[in-house]
Amino acid sequence: MGSVISIISRKGGSGKTTTAIHLATLYAQRDYAVSVLDFDNDGSALAWQRRSERLPFEVFPASKTEAAMRLSERKNGVVIIDTPPNNAQALGAAARASSRVVVVSRANALEEDRLAPSIENLLASGFDGEWGVLITQVRSRKLGDELAGNIATAGFKVLGQIPYRVEYERAFGYEPTRLVDYEIALGGWL
Ligand SMILES: Nc1ncnc2c1ncn2[C@@H]1O[C@H](COP(=O)(O)OP(=O)(O)OP(=O)(O)O)[C@@H](O)[C@H]1O
Ligand SMILES: [Mg+2]
Repeated sequence: MGSVISIISRKGGSGKTTTAIHLATLYAQRDYAVSVLDFDNDGSALAWQRRSERLPFEVFPASKTEAAMRLSERKNGVVIIDTPPNNAQALGAAARASSRVVVVSRANALEEDRLAPSIENLLASGFDGEWGVLITQVRSRKLGDELAGNIATAGFKVLGQIPYRVEYERAFGYEPTRLVDYEIALGGWL
C-alpha cells in the first residue's frame, strides 16, 4: 500500500474537505506527488478544484479510485481521501484503503458527542494504521483544550488543533494560503 490518508468524520461540516485540501497543499509544497480522492457524492473537493484557477494537485472523483491508488504507490506518492458525512460504508472503505487516518471534530459539546461513532466506525473497519483526532474550528483555547483532554483521557491521540479563522472560511475555491496551523498539527506526517 502506498501512502494514503483518509480524512473522516460521521458529522457534517466538521472540516474534512478543508483539511484534505490544506494537507494536500502542504504535501505539494514539499514536492510529493499528491492527489485528493473525493469519496463524497456532494463533490466538495472536486468543486474546490473546478472553482480554482490552479491547485498544486489534482482532485479525482471516486470513479477514479484505482488510478489514484496507483499514483499513491509511486515514489513520493500520496493520496488524501476526502470522505462524506453520515456514511459508515464510505468511511470504512476509505479507512481500509489507508495507511493513516485523520478523524476531525469541531470543538464543541455536540460534536464531541458525535465523535464516538466516528471512532467506533474506524476501529470496526479493519483499519490498523496510525490515526488521531484533529480538532478543528477551535474558537477558544478553553474549548479546544477541554476536548483534547477528554480525547486523551479516553486513550486516543490528539493530532492537534486548528483555530477558527476567517481565512479558512474563505478558502473554498482557492489555493490555500494559510498553512501554518495544519503544518503544526500534521507536519510530523510530512
Ligand atoms: N478552521 C476553520 N475556521 C473557520 N471555518 C472553517 C474552518 N475549517 C472549516 N471551516 C468552514 O466550515 C465549513 C465546513 O467545512 P468543510 O466543508 O471542510 O467540512 P466537511 O466536514 O467537509 O463538511 P461535509 O460533511 O459537508 O463534507 C466550511 O464553510 C468551511 O469553510
Ligand atoms: Mg466535505
